[in-house]
Amino acid sequence: MAKWNKVYSTKEFFYGKNPNEFIKKYYGLIPQGGRVLELACGEGRNAIFLAQQGFHADAIDLSEVAIEKAESWTRDLNVEVNFINTDAFRWTPQYRYDGIIITFFHAPPEKRILLYQKIKELLKPEGIFLGEWFSPLQRLHGFTSGGPPFYEYMPTIEELKDNFQNGEILLLETEERVLHEGSGHRGPASLVHLIWRKK
Ligand SMILES: C[S@@+](CC[C@H](N)C(=O)[O-])C[C@H]1O[C@@H](n2cnc3c(N)ncnc32)[C@H](O)[C@@H]1O
Repeated sequence: MAKWNKVYSTKEFFYGKNPNEFIKKYYGLIPQGGRVLELACGEGRNAIFLAQQGFHADAIDLSEVAIEKAESWTRDLNVEVNFINTDAFRWTPQYRYDGIIITFFHAPPEKRILLYQKIKELLKPEGIFLGEWFSPLQRLHGFTSGGPPFYEYMPTIEELKDNFQNGEILLLETEERVLHEGSGHRGPASLVHLIWRKK
């Protein structure tokens, strides 16, 4: 975690303060006013946005520096988010969720599969999952706009389709987009998106 603590240990917000574009575009699919969870929330830009839209937001990240920064930001804004400094693969939540979101939480394949299972378990029936990641094609951009430089850390469309069969896939696509997310994600990027509704 030293890597992420170092990334976040400046005054600047590494991915900016605006919510992620994909989350902003699709959060309205989550049952309004419900309980949402952000996995690997970083400095909190998406969870805070969702709280401002009237959701009860829980948000976890492994970096204590990120969580401290996010908490301090919520105090400035007078917004309530339950930020938790923990490991997404070890944490046992006390709630079930109307919505779960992920932006750019990249992990090795065996861990990703565990995460998909956890997301499916933690959603309530009719709950919505919104996920955005760099796609394997991000290597063609030389990872200059972000992403771990490990090809196997990026989910493919096929992997997502295979792991989210029970339920309704509302969107599964790749997209080429120019990112303007702080200094952390900047420039042309290859992305993959999943929106899934639990039965
Ligand atoms: C690329 S950043 C994305 C942050 C945030 N989702 C955003 O888009 O602004 C990846 C984040 O994953 C977090 N992370 C890595 N491994 C984790 C784990 N096992 N559990 C929780 N968070 C983790 C890092 O601390 C980092 O904040």
